[in-house]
Amino acid sequence: MSKIVNLGVLVSGSGSNLQSVIDNIEKGTLPARIRIVISNNPEAFALERARKHGIPVAVITHGSSNSRQEYDQKLVDTLTSHDVELVVLAGFMRVLSPLFLRAFPMRIMNIHPAVLPSFPGTHGQKQAFDYGVKFSGCTVHFADEGIDTGPIIIQAIVPVYDTDTEETLSGRILKEEHRIYPKAIKLYAEGRLQVEGRKVRVKDHPQPEESPRHNPPVSEF
Ligand code: GRF
Repeated sequence: MSKIVNLGVLVSGSGSNLQSVIDNIEKGTLPARIRIVISNNPEAFALERARKHGIPVAVITHGSSNSRQEYDQKLVDTLTSHDVELVVLAGFMRVLSPLFLRAFPMRIMNIHPAVLPSFPGTHGQKQAFDYGVKFSGCTVHFADEGIDTGPIIIQAIVPVYDTDTEETLSGRILKEEHRIYPKAIKLYAEGRLQVEGRKVRVKDHPQPEESPRHNPPVSEF
C-alpha cells in the first residue's frame, strides 16, 4: 500500500537528482512530499531548484558547529521538526556520524555514481573510467556507517565505449541516476523494501528475463 512519504533531501551541489525527485512528485508518479531541502553549501544550485518549486530550504554550514556531532544533531533536529520519515542524500558531500544514522535507521538513502561495491568514495565515475571497465552505472543504497557500503536497493548499468571521456560517461550514468532514485523512493513508499542483513528484497516484483550483456558485443567475435 502506497502512502505519501515525507522526505528530507540533503544536497551540496547542482541538485539534478533533487530535480528528478521533484519532477516525479509533480507528475504524480512518486507518492512523496519534500518537507525540507538542507544544504551545507549556501551556493548550491539545488537550493534554487527547491525554492522555485516552493519547497522550504535550510542552509546549515559547518562553521556554525564546533563538532561533527553538534552539526549532525542540527541536521537531525531540522529533519525531525519537519516530520521527515525518509532522508534522501542527493550529492551531500559530507560523511554522516553514527548519531545521524541512528536517528533514521534504514531510513537514509544515498545514490552513488558507480556499481558498488566497486569504486566507492568520491569521483566514482572517474575511478571506473580510469580503471578501464566495460560497464559502469549507479547504485541506490541505504546508508550505514561505512562509505557507500550499505544494503543495495537498485543498480543500473551503462556501457563504457572506447570513444567515451569521463564527462560523456558521467552524463550517461547521471541519466540513469535520475531514473532509479525516484524508483527506489517509490518502492519505499509502497512498503516493498525488506532489509534482511545486507540484502534488500523488493516485494512483488517480476523476475527479470535473463539477458546477459557484453561490451564489446559477442556478435563481433
Ligand atoms: C551524483 O553523481 C550522485 O551520484 C553523487 O553526487 C552527484 C550529485 O549530483 N552522490 P546532483 O547534485 O544530484 O546533480
